[in-house]
Amino acid sequence: PAYETLLTRTDGPVGIIQLNRPKQLNALNDQLMDELSAALRAFDTDEAIACIVLTGNDKAFAAGADIAAMARYTFADVYRSEYITRNWEALRHVRKPVIAAVAGYALGGGCEVAMMCDLIIAADNARFGQPEVKIGVIPGAGGTQRLPRAIGKAKAMDMVLTGRMMDAAEAERAGLVSRVVPTDKLMEEALAVAHAIAAQPRLAVLAAKEALNRAFEAPLAEGLQFERRMFHAMFATQDQKEGMAAFLEKRPARFEGR
Ligand code: HXC
Repeated sequence: PAYETLLTRTDGPVGIIQLNRPKQLNALNDQLMDELSAALRAFDTDEAIACIVLTGNDKAFAAGADIAAMARYTFADVYRSEYITRNWEALRHVRKPVIAAVAGYALGGGCEVAMMCDLIIAADNARFGQPEVKIGVIPGAGGTQRLPRAIGKAKAMDMVLTGRMMDAAEAERAGLVSRVVPTDKLMEEALAVAHAIAAQPRLAVLAAKEALNRAFEAPLAEGLQFERRMFHAMFATQDQKEGMAAFLEKRPARFEGR
């Protein structure tokens, strides 16, 4: 499908989605979030795709929800119709790994979208922030929940209450991003990680993502129980037999995704 606010392409088993409203620094409006949901669903259900990369451009991953679209809404508008917030849950339902490749601004909803991805790779020019308080609102898509889980209460309070930005080096020290690379190497690095994930047995990758996400949703005992059951379930897969046999026979494994 052709999208107006996104560009999509594939690189072998990797689906790439580029946010594409460059004049507005990829401000996230309802149309973009609708299209993002559709594009994610399309890659998630495509058997040929094993991993997804979500990115923006060198200046902005996304500078937040579209302030021009939001400015005139009343409480009644947003509460009744879920303007702005509707369709922000799509990333949560993607079962394949999603990598955020972030250069430039990832602010407000842009930072929240990046945090909904499974991991963030940052360019050295990346700037993260939850500046909503400066325009009279608060984060609305997980900023007050995922940011403290990622970087701890002290730094999250500092970011959310002052609205200040964090550069890539601080984001890496704080644990918000997994790697920082030169800006012109961002896509190369993100694709290398995506291909490394795509080369792993598919079922093990799906199960590992699902189990890891339990760490943020469930009490420890329940998460550990879920992990153990998923670990046991892997012994029902062909790729477990192949992976362990290949190791013992000192040869490369040939995984089939079943
Ligand atoms: C709409 C935006 C925008 C946004 C930038 N633009 N951010 N439009 N919504 N969030 C537009 C500008 O109006 C401008 O349009 C053009 O993009 C370029 O931006 P400039 O401000 O001229 O660029 P610069 O001076 O380089 O400053 C970059 C910036 C600044 C620091 C990122 O744009 C900025 O502070 N943006 C807002 C960041 C923000 O508050 N985000 C949180 C939004 S609330 P024109 O037409 O003038 O060229 C939110 C809630 C999430 O995200 C809730 C989720 C459910």
